[in-house]
Parts: sequence; structure tokens; C-alpha cells
Amino acid sequence: MSYGREARSFLFATVATASVGAGAVLGVLHERSVASAGASVPEAATVEYGRRLLRETALLMGPDHEDPAMRYTGARLACASCHLETGTKPGTLSLMQSASRYPRPSPRDGGVRDLRDRINGCMLRSMNGRELPRDSVEMIAMEAYIYHLGERYAASSESRRAASEPAAFAEPKRAADPVAGEVVYAERCAVCHGADGQGLRATLEPADGYVFPPLWGSDSYNDGAGMHRVLTAASFIKARMPLGQPDLTDDQAFDVAAYINSHPRPAMSGLERDYPERSTKPLDSPYGPWADPFPAEQHKYGPYAEIRAWYAAQREAQSGDH
Ligand code: HEC
Ligand code: HEC
Repeated sequence: MSYGREARSFLFATVATASVGAGAVLGVLHERSVASAGASVPEAATVEYGRRLLRETALLMGPDHEDPAMRYTGARLACASCHLETGTKPGTLSLMQSASRYPRPSPRDGGVRDLRDRINGCMLRSMNGRELPRDSVEMIAMEAYIYHLGERYAASSESRRAASEPAAFAEPKRAADPVAGEVVYAERCAVCHGADGQGLRATLEPADGYVFPPLWGSDSYNDGAGMHRVLTAASFIKARMPLGQPDLTDDQAFDVAAYINSHPRPAMSGLERDYPERSTKPLDSPYGPWADPFPAEQHKYGPYAEIRAWYAAQREAQSGDH
């Protein structure tokens, strides 16, 4: 297969070569953090270490780390399991332009959040782990890497920026059907992710993570993660999966997203505190409470048109009050 270990080490080398200029980014970061926190950047927090943290997440800060203090993630996924090609692939879940998007308001957290907060969002949910201290070497290194990607993006030509993905996912006008999704899964996904969704480990050592990551179960993202929302998962799957040949129809992507998210996965505590302004909660957020009267099942699988219409009517009624 073309994306075996060899292809991975080639990518590895390409990205490493591109890391020249890291000093400049760290310089900028250094000024920023000195200006904001009065702290300095630890020498070990290099762009290259940041890149490795996104790629070899399980090894460097996973649950099998020999130093218990370094066990930050609960899942043995890598950040790069979702942020493909270590965030460098343009399009869906690319991290190339993320540095410029923060700080910004987060409806989920109910306040303005910066890039470090956002990384911790994925640590808590996608990686089913705990927050990294904001001034830890690991946090600063990952932030430096993402800033570095932003610089590379700014310097790159238009043609290299273009995402070659299928047309964006268009939501079918019906509920997603996990039973139909099971058929898609068996035909198009099981070969890599396994009939039981548990993926394929890279080696016999759990700390080495996965060649093909698990899609549910104890080593997967938790129920508070973005990927646990059927519309988010369907958009990702339509654009990216099957890896190397993303050719599913909207219906197939919708149903298989429902199928993978119909299985058990780790539970995150405190989810009821998400989206303090309830009306900002995404329609497909599978956990309550919601501001609307629709059942949990409909939030999880749709159909979403009715829910969307209900919110539109609420907004209209409110603006009529003035
Ligand atoms: C299971 C899949 C998954 C994994 C694993 C994952 N993420 Fe994410 N990440 C997402 C999703 C989904 C989003 C939200 C995209 C959106 O808001 O539309 C996201 C968003 C982000 C963003 C904000 C991007 C932007 O431009 O706004 C950053 C930064 C990020 N992740 C970093 C990380 C880091 C660092 C790790 C590893 C510690 C990680 N992610 C692991 C799925 C994942
Ligand atoms: C040819 C192998 C292959 C096939 C087939 C494939 N995937 Fe993947 N998938 C991967 C790899 C590899 C990754 C992680 C990306 C990386 O490491 O570069 C991934 C990542 C994912 C992720 C995000 C990470 C996670 O663990 O949650 C999801 C979701 C996913 N695949 C769903 C699917 C679905 C649904 C299908 C079937 C439609 C599918 N994949 C088919 C190889 C494959």
C-alpha cells in the first residue's frame, strides 16, 4: 500500500527539511510570550519537537509513557490521525491556517480562547486526555509548529494551497442510517480500520500507536469530541476516506459516520457545561441539554432540517419582539 511506513518516513523527511526558519517563528513566539506572560520559551520547545508531538503523540505523551507525569492523552491516536499529513494537507482539518484564526470566541467554552486553549480542546476530547499546562514545553512546541505551518502557508504558491478534495459534503434530507452505514463500513473501511473498528497497531508496543487508528472503543476519541458529531464526521469522511481514494457519496458518508458513532467510546465528564449559551450548540451535538424540544436521537442522527427550522423560527420571533 502506498501509505505504508516508507511513505511515512518520506513525508517525515520532507517536513523536517521544511522546518528551516523555525528560529524566526520561535523569535516571534518568544516576544509574544514574554510580552504576555513574562515567561520565556524553553529551548526544547522546537518546531521539530512540535511536529513529532502531532505525529508520535502516543509515544511522546500517551498513556504508556514511562513517566506518569507525561501521560497526557488517554487515547493512543495521534493528532495526525485526523489532521492529515501532520496538519499540512490543505482542506478539511488542515492546520496550515490555524495560527491566524486565534484568539477567537468559542461558543463551546463560552468565552474567547487562544490557540493553546484550542489545542487543549483536542487534548481533552479528541485525545480523551487531560489539559497540558499552558506553559509546558509540549504546548509551546505544538504552538510553534502550528505557527510555523502558518508561515509556510503564507510563503507557498496558490497551486500548492489548493485542496484537491471531493465536493464538500451536502447533508441528505433524512436521518442518517447506521444500518446502511454498516454495509459501507464492511465494504470500504474494515480493510484498514478492522471489522471490529479497533484499527491496526504499528507494533506490538501499544506506545507506538496505530498505522490504522481505531474508530471506536477505549482507544478512540471520546463522546465530547467534534468527530463524535455525525455532520462533522461525515464531512471529514467525505473529504478524506477511504484514505487515498475518497469517493463516497454524501449518503454513504452520512450513514457510515452514524455507524462509527453508534458504537461505545470513552465518556467525558462535565459535557452539560458545554455551550453555556444553549442556542449556539451545533444541531448534531449528540449530548444534551439543548435549547429545543427535539429528542436526543434526532440530534445524533438527524434529520436536521426540522431542528434548523425551529431555531430559525425562534430567532424570527425574538427579532419581532423589539
Ligand atoms: C479524532 C480526530 C482529532 C484528533 C485526534 C485531533 N483533532 Fe484537532 N480537531 C479535530 C476537529 C474535528 C476539529 C474542529 C474543526 C472545526 O472546528 O471545524 C479540530 C480542531 C483543531 C484545531 C483548530 C483548527 C482551526 O483551524 O481552527 C487545532 C489547533 C487542533 N485541532 C489541534 C490538535 C492537536 C494538537 C491534536 C493532538 C493533541 C489534535 N488536534 C487531535 C479533530 C481531531
Ligand atoms: C486504506 C486504509 C484506509 C481506509 C480504507 C480507510 N481509512 Fe480511515 N484512516 C486511515 C488512516 C491511515 C488514518 C489516519 C491518518 C494517518 O495516520 O495519516 C485514518 C483516519 C480516519 C479517521 C480519523 C481518525 C480516527 O481514528 O477517528 C476516521 C474517522 C476514519 N479514518 C474513518 C474512515 C471511514 C469511515 C472509512 C471508510 C469509508 C475509512 N476511514 C477508510 C486509513 C484508512
